[in-house]
Amino acid sequence: MINDLWYKNAVIYSLGVGTYMDANGDGIGDFEGLTRRLDYLSGLGITAVWLMPFQKSPFRDNGYDISDYYSVDPRFGTMGDFVEFTRGAEQRGLRVLIDLVVNHTSDQHPWFQEARSDPNSKYRDWYVWSKKKPPHAEEGVAFPGVQKSTWSYDQAAKAWYFHRFYDFQPDLNTSNPHVQAEILKIMGFWIQLGVSGFRMDAVPFVIATKGADVTKPTEQYDMLRQLREFLQWREGDSIILAEANVPPNTDMHYFGDEGERMQMMFNFLVNQNLFYALAIADSRPLARALGKTRARPPTAQWGNFLRNHDELDLGRLTQAQCDAVFAAFGPEKSMQLYGRGIRRRLAPMLQGDRRRIELAYSLMFTLPGTPVLRYGDELGMGDDLDLPERNCARTPMQWSSEANGGFTKSEKPILPVVDEGPYGYRHVNAAFQRRDPESMLNWTERIIRMRKEVPEVGWGDFEVLDAGTPCVLAMRYDWRNNSVLFLHNLDAKPREVVFHPGLQGGAGDLLVNLLADDHSRAGKGGRHQVLLEAYGYRWYRVGGLDYLLKRSDVDRKRAHNKAAHRDRGGAP
Ligand code: GLC
Ligand code: CA
Repeated sequence: MINDLWYKNAVIYSLGVGTYMDANGDGIGDFEGLTRRLDYLSGLGITAVWLMPFQKSPFRDNGYDISDYYSVDPRFGTMGDFVEFTRGAEQRGLRVLIDLVVNHTSDQHPWFQEARSDPNSKYRDWYVWSKKKPPHAEEGVAFPGVQKSTWSYDQAAKAWYFHRFYDFQPDLNTSNPHVQAEILKIMGFWIQLGVSGFRMDAVPFVIATKGADVTKPTEQYDMLRQLREFLQWREGDSIILAEANVPPNTDMHYFGDEGERMQMMFNFLVNQNLFYALAIADSRPLARALGKTRARPPTAQWGNFLRNHDELDLGRLTQAQCDAVFAAFGPEKSMQLYGRGIRRRLAPMLQGDRRRIELAYSLMFTLPGTPVLRYGDELGMGDDLDLPERNCARTPMQWSSEANGGFTKSEKPILPVVDEGPYGYRHVNAAFQRRDPESMLNWTERIIRMRKEVPEVGWGDFEVLDAGTPCVLAMRYDWRNNSVLFLHNLDAKPREVVFHPGLQGGAGDLLVNLLADDHSRAGKGGRHQVLLEAYGYRWYRVGGLDYLLKRSDVDRKRAHNKAAHRDRGGAP
């Protein structure tokens, strides 16, 4: 059978304002500049990019406060520059996903301006109003400590309006059919301009019921099917990647039992447990999170990530677990945010320890799903904790040792480049690392190349194996008559593991190391014995390198997914 679902085995790279915003309009450090970097991106081996918001915006939340959905903010370039970018990406075989931020608009959006100034405006009902201050106004804030309430009084409207996020981001009344129609129009517009889909912002809030009398919002999951159907009518291979940090027992509501809703979701549960596992050098929390998020329709996919443009949200861990992650990776108050997360970039979190950074990335690349990288992480870029909230990890991409890291000729970039300490652009930049075969950049390029050659991870079923020590995560993937096996030692000490690959009849006797020369042959009883260095990792192909001659054209183990889904109480 042909497998055309590109997102099942993609490598996604996220681009933020630190790659396209410098505000001087000279074609460098903006979309035009970014278009010139497309060869760098395609050389890295990624297969898709995700662009964070670039539409017109007062920019009080990094562009997540949009004031015109059908535009490009002039600070980034023109609509023409955007189309040149998507065209250039397409020519290199790169897909472009863009953010779809429709839970709320900027308070500067003309819709909100009209809605607040005229109670009879057709836009009045596009937002969520209340005559009186709702009793639960202080509950459910998205940014505790910075945002005080979810309802604010508007003088012009003489009414309270609802905002899940900051007060300058009034929520759209997404249950209003006119708003729903507009959301489709926005999607249709960008699809027409060559994007392959959307990273949909704040999905649980988009589909929630909203209003002064809503004390416990309910998710209207059916809305997701509407979006999906529209999108696929317009362009068959376009997708939605949902940002939904939700408990695992609701995952299938987002994917849909028949895979009729979101094609992809970020795996927040695995993300948080991965960091917890790294913090305590114990793979079990991660293995449990993988088990809890195992079930998904065969056409659906997880997006796995380490860090993104937001804080590392640890809200799904217990307080004790969260404290363990804080102690390991963000011990100082200035490194933490909203009482639930860490706002640093990955490299400084891991004390710049190359072994540990590789381990973390190797893990991410081999977890069930599609990896999502953040710009600059391939260089091991650092952060600037002097910047407020999440901006610390959104500094300009460090291209070279030239002024401003080669990002812009502007005297004053919107966010300053990191220019001091070990992560400063004079030490950490793409130009240096390109010339150094052992650099993080070249390591990342090699690991991406390898990852693309193990589609078993994207498509297959996985099994966590008993490695004899919880410090080591051992996983095997099976797909179309082939298997691959990965070992990750989360511990700072070397660990010897003895394990059985779990395949029958000697099928697992030979493990071919895909990254180095130390292959492994099974000893007594089909068991392998491998000594892993501190933070060591191994990628093995089971059986030998003639695997492509053995690959089957059909999937056999579909029943497995269905059974797992039933175990968790889903419909058969
Ligand atoms: C999402 C984004 C975040 C933004 C928020 C409001 O959580 O990832 O950056 O602040 O939505 O749009
Ligand atoms: Ca510029």
